[in-house]
Amino acid sequence: MQFDAMKENNWLDLMSDTARDLFLPQGIFYWSGRAGKEADINATIGTAAGWESDIIPGGKTDKWITYYIPSVREKMRQIPSDNVFPYAPILGLPGFRKAWREWIVKKTTPHFPFDADLLGSPMVVPGASPGLFYLVKMFLSPGEALVCPDKRWENYDLMFTDCLGVPIESYPFFENAKPAPENLEKKLVEVAKKQDKLVTMLNFPNNPTGYMPSRAEGEAYRDAIVNAANATGKTVVVLFDDAYDGYVFDETGAPISIFGMFVGLHPNVLPVKVDGVSKELLWYGGRTACITFAFHPDLRNRAALEKEVENKVGALVRGTVSNSVRLVQEAVSLALADPDTVFAERKVVEQVLSARCAALKQSLKSLDPKAAYPEPFNSGFFCLLNVNPAVDADALADHLLKQYRTGVIPMKDAALGINAIRVAFCSVDVSHVAALVDAIGKGIADLS
Ligand SMILES: Cc1ncc(COP(=O)(O)O)c(C=O)c1O
Repeated sequence: MQFDAMKENNWLDLMSDTARDLFLPQGIFYWSGRAGKEADINATIGTAAGWESDIIPGGKTDKWITYYIPSVREKMRQIPSDNVFPYAPILGLPGFRKAWREWIVKKTTPHFPFDADLLGSPMVVPGASPGLFYLVKMFLSPGEALVCPDKRWENYDLMFTDCLGVPIESYPFFENAKPAPENLEKKLVEVAKKQDKLVTMLNFPNNPTGYMPSRAEGEAYRDAIVNAANATGKTVVVLFDDAYDGYVFDETGAPISIFGMFVGLHPNVLPVKVDGVSKELLWYGGRTACITFAFHPDLRNRAALEKEVENKVGALVRGTVSNSVRLVQEAVSLALADPDTVFAERKVVEQVLSARCAALKQSLKSLDPKAAYPEPFNSGFFCLLNVNPAVDADALADHLLKQYRTGVIPMKDAALGINAIRVAFCSVDVSHVAALVDAIGKGIADLS
C-alpha cells in the first residue's frame, strides 16, 4: 500500500514517526483471501480445522469446522451472567491463573522435571502476540536487538521492529537439515559486544517450519545459552513463544516445550514462558494467553521481586488493553478442573494433525529436492518448503491458485535468502495431502 490518499490529504504529516512508517503487511491476508475464493485445497489457514466427525463422536462427516475442545465449549455455556459481563482483574482471574500454573506443571514436568516453586503466577494477557510484545517492550529499548532465527513467525518483525523499534538480529536456524544452536550462541556473543543484556526468542514448535527439537537438541540450545551467559557475563532473557505447546507428532521432537529445562538453570538466564489458549486449547478468538516467569533460587527477595514484576506487566496491560477477556478465563478454568479430559480431547485433534503431518512427509518424498525440499518438520501447524531460487515463490503461489486451485503462503526474504512456501497442514484434510503435493510439484515444473 502506498498511502496515496493519505499523502494527498497530508495525513502522513499528522502521524507519529512510528505510524508514518508503519503498514500492515498484506502477504498472508492477501494469499489466504485469494485462496478462500480460488482454491479447492487451501493450505493457507493457520487454524486447525477438519470434519466435525473427526473430533466429535457422532459429528457430521460433511461439516467442515474449526476444531475446538468440547469440554471448554460445554463449560462456556454454563457460566452465569455475573461471571461473564464484569471486568476481569488486570492480570486475570485468580482461579484461572492458578489453573494455568497447574496446567504448565502438569504438561511439562513429566518430561522436563523442575521445582514448581520456582514458577511465578501466570499473568493473563489478550493472546500470545501481546504477551510477546509486552515482554520485548519490557526488556529492550528501541535500537537494542532481539536475537531470533532466520525462519521465524513474520509477525515478530512487525511487532518488535516496526512497532517497538527493536531490530532483530538473525541467525541461521538450520545447517544441513539440523537445528544449529551454535549459531544462536555465536549471535548472542556478537550482540553482547553492542549491548548490556541479551534477549532471545525460542519458538518450538516453530512457525513457519513446524520444527520441534529433540531432547538432545533442546539440551544443545540450553548449553548454547548458558555458554553465552558465561562467556559474556551478561544476563540472557529467554522468551519462550510456546503458542503451539505440545503439538508434537513423532518421537524426533521433545513432547513439550523445553522451557522446563531452563527453570532454575543458571543465575544469569531468565526464562519467561508465553503460552495460551489460542492454539493450545484451540480458541483463537478467545484472546487469552499467559506470561509466566521462572525465578532462579539465587535471586534475592523472591516474593517482593515477583510482586514488582507483576506490577510492571500490570502497567503494560493497563496502559494498553486494560484487562483481558473474562468469559474465556472462566470457561477454561472450569474445564481445567478436569485436566485429563482436556488432555484427552486435545489428543484427538493431535492425532488428526499427526496423520496429516505423516502423510505430508511421505508425499513430499515424491518431490525432486532440486525443485523444492522441506525444512525438517515434526510438529505444530505448518511446514516450510524451500523452493528452487529459479522459481519465484510469489509467482508459484499465484500459479498454484490459477492452475491447480491450491492455496499456499509464499515467504520471501532476499536478505535472509528465503524463497519458500508455507504449507498449513493443520487445515488440509489428510485425503487432500497427496493432491496438494502433486500440485506443488507440477507448479514448480511449469515455472522451471
Ligand atoms: C509462533 C506464533 N506465536 C504466537 C502467535 C500468536 O498467538 P495469539 O493468537 O495467541 O496471539 C502465533 C499465531 O499465529 C504464532 O504463530
